[in-house]
Amino acid sequence: MRMEGPLGVSDLLLAIESSCDETAVAIIRGGTQIVSSVVSSQVDLHRAYGGVVPELASRAHLELIVPLIREALSEAGCTAHGTLINGEPGIRAIGATYGPGLIGPLLVGVAAAKALALAWDLPFIGVNHLEGHLYASLLEDPEMEFPVVVLLVSGGHTLLISMQAPGEYSILGSTVDDAAGEAFDKVARYLGYGYPGGPAIEDAAHTVLMPEIRFTPPMLHEGLNFSFSGLKTAAVQYVKANPTVASAQVAAAFQRAVIEVLVTKTVVAAELTDARGICIAGGVAANGALREAMIAEGARQGRKVFVPSRAMCTDNAAMVAAAAFFRLSVEGPSPISLGAVPNLAFPTK
Ligand code: KG4
Ligand code: ZN
Repeated sequence: MRMEGPLGVSDLLLAIESSCDETAVAIIRGGTQIVSSVVSSQVDLHRAYGGVVPELASRAHLELIVPLIREALSEAGCTAHGTLINGEPGIRAIGATYGPGLIGPLLVGVAAAKALALAWDLPFIGVNHLEGHLYASLLEDPEMEFPVVVLLVSGGHTLLISMQAPGEYSILGSTVDDAAGEAFDKVARYLGYGYPGGPAIEDAAHTVLMPEIRFTPPMLHEGLNFSFSGLKTAAVQYVKANPTVASAQVAAAFQRAVIEVLVTKTVVAAELTDARGICIAGGVAANGALREAMIAEGARQGRKVFVPSRAMCTDNAAMVAAAAFFRLSVEGPSPISLGAVPNLAFPTK
């Protein structure tokens, strides 16, 4: 029953996300309606090591992937063969993240997706994980008006993107060293908060009612690129020079400097490109203080700010499914020979 042409508004697409330490499977209908979305986080597995251990992650993905596919199918009212319980054809296409990410974890998701596509004779679509993050907002706000400026801040990337339409992107700025999420994780580890660092820094910062320290936001008025490595070093040096300082004070000052630079550059980018709106995406976009600051600054500029729910900011397969649906409609299926690409770049024309 291999289908030709784009999917219709009632067609189901199943997608898999396994690029890092979350195994996730989702089924969407018509490109924007989430029918089921399951995410299994490996946070507890990696916590003892202070970060993601790639080999452990690969093994965990292997153990989790089939039960999660079953769970997503069952939640969507599908049989284990991907058909609907009433006998009608159910799943019409299979997507999976093929990069960027960790090679072992990516291979597990790509292999599982290809196996389903071959077994059920369906098109397979490889999805760029970063493009997936952009679809988180579109899933929750399908009427989004373009152009928008997207701040994509995750564990591995910090990108300012002008999105003229789905699939049409240009990069306005990126980090010259660490990604924002990576800086959160490194500072958290130094302060003894462990992994994952972003939520731990946010929680600690939240307890600070009277901020006592201020770090200079890096490269604040120097174009649209970012740098976080020096800020991380400033936090470390501060603790070395002031060993009795409360860690929460350092966490709060670090978070504040990161947010100031992220928000300032995003609103400048929106002004420069005359964007209709601003959108935030990626794991760091789950940060409450960043969300509030971006909404406040966007409102001051008179621009709509699209803030996906926290669960949609961190890694999930619904965003991958939405990106797969779009890619299938404009490019058709990926070759079944497509492999995992750990350093896949953000897709610009
Ligand atoms: O998008 P994501 O889930 O995975 C990648 O594609 O990298 O992002 C993970 C990153 C981690 O660095 C994590 O510390 C950060 O997002 N993060 C946060 C928060 N939640 C996750 N950073 C700051 N505040 C948070 N609440
Ligand atoms: Zn991600």
